Amino acid sequence: MFFSAAAFGLVLASSVAGKVWNIDVGDTNGDTKFNPEAIFADVGDQVVFTFHQKNHTATRSSFAAPCSPVDGGFDSGFMPVAANQTDSFPTYTITVEDTNPIWVFCRQGENTAASHCGKGMVFAVNCPSTGANTFDNFKSSALKIGADLQASAAAASTAAATSTDSSAAAAYTGPWTTADYGTATIAAAPTESVVTETVSLDSAVWTTTYSSYPGSPDPTPSSLTGNVIKVVVGGSNGELTFSPDNVSASPRDIISFEFHQKNHTATQSSFAAPCVRLKDATTGSVIGVDSGFMPVDANATEFPVWNVTVNDTAPLWFYCRQHKPDGSSHCGAGMVFAVNAVEDSPRNFSAFKALATTLNGTNATGATTTGNGGSGNGASAGNMFSVALSVGAAFAAAAVLL
Ligand SMILES: *[C@@H]1O[C@H](CO)[C@@H](O)[C@H](O)[C@H]1NC(C)=O
Ligand SMILES: *[C@@H]1O[C@H](CO)[C@@H](O)[C@H](O)[C@H]1NC(C)=O
Ligand SMILES: *[C@@H]1O[C@H](CO)[C@@H](O)[C@H](O)[C@H]1NC(C)=O
Ligand SMILES: *[C@@H]1O[C@H](CO)[C@@H](O)[C@H](O)[C@H]1NC(C)=O
Ligand SMILES: *[C@@H]1O[C@H](CO)[C@@H](O)[C@H](O)[C@H]1NC(C)=O
Ligand SMILES: *[C@@H]1O[C@H](CO)[C@@H](O)[C@H](O)[C@H]1NC(C)=O
Ligand SMILES: *[C@@H]1O[C@H](CO)[C@@H](O)[C@H](O)[C@H]1NC(C)=O
Ligand SMILES: *[C@@H]1O[C@H](CO)[C@@H](O)[C@H](O)[C@H]1NC(C)=O
Ligand SMILES: *[C@@H]1O[C@H](CO)[C@@H](O)[C@H](O)[C@H]1NC(C)=O
Ligand SMILES: *[C@@H]1O[C@H](CO)[C@@H](O)[C@H](O)[C@H]1NC(C)=O
Repeated sequence: MFFSAAAFGLVLASSVAGKVWNIDVGDTNGDTKFNPEAIFADVGDQVVFTFHQKNHTATRSSFAAPCSPVDGGFDSGFMPVAANQTDSFPTYTITVEDTNPIWVFCRQGENTAASHCGKGMVFAVNCPSTGANTFDNFKSSALKIGADLQASAAAASTAAATSTDSSAAAAYTGPWTTADYGTATIAAAPTESVVTETVSLDSAVWTTTYSSYPGSPDPTPSSLTGNVIKVVVGGSNGELTFSPDNVSASPRDIISFEFHQKNHTATQSSFAAPCVRLKDATTGSVIGVDSGFMPVDANATEFPVWNVTVNDTAPLWFYCRQHKPDGSSHCGAGMVFAVNAVEDSPRNFSAFKALATTLNGTNATGATTTGNGGSGNGASAGNMFSVALSVGAAFAAAAVLL
């Protein structure tokens, strides 16, 4: 039944006595798989794809990009098969022209969370059985693509739910990789212009250069020494908060972080990556300020203080970079803070906080997390925490402060 007349005709007409390989594409249960998944064929052999239920393709890709068609490669096109169809399944035949590997995928749902390829629907002819380009590695990278697509879809849908102004939102592509964090829809930055202005205050006159954008605060300081704005970090009930969590400040003002119970930080990040230290966009080196960890005992009555001077009118974004023993982060729980977030813009404080929870609200230990984009945080962070947890007793003793 798998041998369609057409396929036999081709084989018989061929002067080469090639073998015919029958590959089932999908099945009556609607599974997303090729069966068998890998074959070793000779030049001149025919590979006959028989399409079963659903709506699949057999499309040539490459080892490097398992779920993307390769230029000039064969493609069966979509082969829809109704759920109740029991015979006359459509087929598509290729001839093995040389001994090079042939990588194949189903392009249904391409580049979406529904990608069949991303669910592992791949096939290969003559893949190397050893080395880097094995079938297992090919299928793993297809599954990885699928996991990333699902993580970004989950993140985007959460981010979209907090955004009513889609015209102001742009897809953010860096500086992290989708493999590490997935992607989310992030409100575009306002257009800033750098303005140089002469400022006079009391008897002092000086020139200041600052960022100007819609809603930016006045560059004139509140006083020559600046106001002191106190922010309490954490609290005696284990709060994962900065209080207040958003403030307005002028240049020269001092943000005075007072650290309460647990073991928090005040660490500068960016709007687009709320839980990652602020980095130079070009060099990738960390440029943001950071208090370092400030452990405070449960019974403490004195609290360490760390001051940051505000130098500009541009918003400043902060988070706590502590993690809980389960690997989830204080930042992912919404422990963020902002100076001069423009409340009537898409980059307001609540959008920043929502993004922090969206991007990293799942446990870093991907293994214990289901759904919600957790797979996007997977391996590297998980490894990081298995290292931390192996510290055992010391870690347990410190856990009270986390
Ligand atoms: C098969 O899938 C393609 C791509 O998703 C779609 O354009 C086409 O309408 C589908 N055909 C049927 C009959 O569902
Ligand atoms: C399959 O189901 C469709 C309706 O869903 C029907 O029109 C068609 O006749 C059925 N085909 C067979 C072979 O039963
Ligand atoms: C997510 O958390 C991990 C550690 O759990 C951290 O390394 C990473 O920077 C965080 N990513 C984002 C986007 O916040
Ligand atoms: C705080 O509690 C710890 C034990 O939990 C104790 O060792 C320490 O002496 C206490 N400090 C004060 C100031 O009471
Ligand atoms: C923080 O700034 C305030 C106000 O200038 C000052 O009184 C305090 O000593 C500073 N604290 C630290 C730790 O620098
Ligand atoms: C403002 O400038 C001072 C002096 O250069 C620096 O110590 C401080 O970190 C700057 N503040 C920020 C938020 O970068
Ligand atoms: C805050 O930001 C969100 C997300 O960008 C946006 O939907 C909302 O309208 C903003 N709020 C205001 C008051 O502009
Ligand atoms: C900003 O902080 C104030 C308290 O200072 C609070 O009332 C307000 O809700 C905060 N804004 C957001 C968007 O959370
Ligand atoms: C994080 O892990 C803990 C412990 O495994 C679990 O109780 C919690 O539900 C997880 N949270 C998420 C968001 O997966
Ligand atoms: C504070 O947290 C950091 C990072 O998790 C950790 O290295 C340090 O040991 C903690 N300090 C205390 C006293 O718990």
